[in-house]
Amino acid sequence: CGIVGYLGPQNPKDIIISGLKKLEYRGYDSAGVAILDNGKTKRVRAQGKLKALEEKLVNEKFDGHIGIGHTRWATHGKPSERNAHPHQVRGINLVHNGIIENYLDIREELLAQGAEITSDTDSELVAHLIANEVEVTKDLFKAVEKTLNKLRGAFSILVMWEQEPDRLVAFKDGPPLVVGLGEKEVFVASDVQALIQYTKKFVYLEDREVASIRGADVQFFSANGFPIQKKVVELNWNPEMVEKQGYTHYMLKEIYEQPRAVAAAIEPHVNPEFFSVALKNIGFGQSVQKLEELDSKADWEKTKEVLKNIDRVFIIACGTSNYAGMVGKYLIEQLAKVPVEVDIASEFRYRNPVIPPKSLVMTISQSGETADTLAAIRMAKEMGATTLSICNVRNSTIDREADGHLYMNSGPEIGVASTKAFTSTMAVLNCFAIGFARLRGTMDEATEKELVKSLLAVPSQMEGVLAYDKYFEEAASKLKLFRGFLYMGRGSSFPIAMEGALKLKELAYMHAEGYAAGEMKHGPLALIDERMAIVMVAPTDHLYEKTISNLEEARARGGKVISIGTGDNEKLRAISEHYLAIPKAHWTTNSILTVIPLQLMSYHLACNLGYDVDQPRNLAKSVTVE
Ligand code: G6P
Repeated sequence: CGIVGYLGPQNPKDIIISGLKKLEYRGYDSAGVAILDNGKTKRVRAQGKLKALEEKLVNEKFDGHIGIGHTRWATHGKPSERNAHPHQVRGINLVHNGIIENYLDIREELLAQGAEITSDTDSELVAHLIANEVEVTKDLFKAVEKTLNKLRGAFSILVMWEQEPDRLVAFKDGPPLVVGLGEKEVFVASDVQALIQYTKKFVYLEDREVASIRGADVQFFSANGFPIQKKVVELNWNPEMVEKQGYTHYMLKEIYEQPRAVAAAIEPHVNPEFFSVALKNIGFGQSVQKLEELDSKADWEKTKEVLKNIDRVFIIACGTSNYAGMVGKYLIEQLAKVPVEVDIASEFRYRNPVIPPKSLVMTISQSGETADTLAAIRMAKEMGATTLSICNVRNSTIDREADGHLYMNSGPEIGVASTKAFTSTMAVLNCFAIGFARLRGTMDEATEKELVKSLLAVPSQMEGVLAYDKYFEEAASKLKLFRGFLYMGRGSSFPIAMEGALKLKELAYMHAEGYAAGEMKHGPLALIDERMAIVMVAPTDHLYEKTISNLEEARARGGKVISIGTGDNEKLRAISEHYLAIPKAHWTTNSILTVIPLQLMSYHLACNLGYDVDQPRNLAKSVTVE
């Protein structure tokens, strides 16, 4: 869910709506605002996307200078207007993100007291508890503090009270919240993207911290009421970075931004003069805030020491980030000869994993807020592992908690289906694998040069692939006739097949499976007929011949083939309905290129079917609940 709050001289309605628009990626099944008007809080809510709320608000005027808003991704209670936030109970207005685990007990207790509960959410119950407390304390901050003791779960809330019309109280324990500081005004949001057009100064709340905002004055407290000092972070993003810049969708813009994003991901680690890699900025053991002030030489020494001592790697992530991790496994094992285990965060955290000493636990998360990934890194730390995060959002919770830090550097990613964060991560993993291999002595200088050269060539090769978009669009236009899709590949093309299938599911709502091509004969071949499309990821690498044999097996059973290969491949062209080419590249970078046609095919197919590509049904970009 997305939260926005405003307190200051401007019109809260406009600020909250513009903020919520930037947060719609976090959930979009209903939305609402509560804004002070004539001494009372006026609440307007609507089921469906933010547009529905905007329409309802067109003629609404508010004379107050305080308000909160919310865009929802349902957990408790189906999407409907009555379940939409803000929840309002006797002058208390509350927006909430996350889950209250003991909500059933609270509900029973409140019902026994005669409370009138009007929704199916856990959130409304919190508003009741605060409303009860505030009648006694007559102070919103104190009432929130008292209520917190009664709640279990991972959640963030933002609250206002009619009787204290110059006050907002925010609490975070799990899902992110930032406080934006302006001249004579204060903002609160789930993500800096919502506020970047209004301020560049932010304070990130940590777990179990409370912000008490009165007028332009903000005070921070620990959950047990002690005042604390917080660092103000200044961001250098510009608002344009989160606009569509003329593209029909954020996703399309982000696909086209990939060459630049990949270049930015590589840049901090590669010396283009010597074609060498140094992982100078990982900052093991340094707090994120200190990273910029670090002397990279000293840091490099420390990083070398840490990495030389690692003899096993775990990569933990969810969704698309997990597939990037699988590509990382091929790279790190092949180049640095260190065993790598890749796991889905929600599995890893509950399977009592064995993490031997000298393990590096690497998490990958675009948002840096995914609840399961965060839990996994916390667990790994507790078990004594060295942790390293690859995040896109700097200062995100996972970034702050990791021992070492790598960045995707993709700039804000808004489309719910991840694209540029995926390719940037693969580029960062290339750098990591090369740097790690050099440190461990498993790679000579000549190979390093060769690999770095191929990596530096990737951004312009990506431009080359993007230039063929019209062929991908043409291929996509035929796809809706199929009943299902089998995406296949071998080696590092296997995770690309998984990612391709995921993109099709997410965007076009069609059934697709990603498979290791060698596994076809163990089941999937039975599915093949002329209404089943085979999407074969077959760049020219050491596994190419084997992939082609698998392709022939599928064709022999009537499967229609779409293939992705290297250069002008006559063979693939001859046996495929559609042949989509990438430029000749090293096996280590092929994956960054082969995924582009798959992203664009899914994009075009979804547009063709009339679906909302930026906000696919039932999904959210940043999943801060488990
Ligand atoms: C959601 C998004 C995916 C993303 C995944 C992991 O499912 O829709 O695009 O890959 O979360 O997110 P993260 O921010 O941890 O990379």
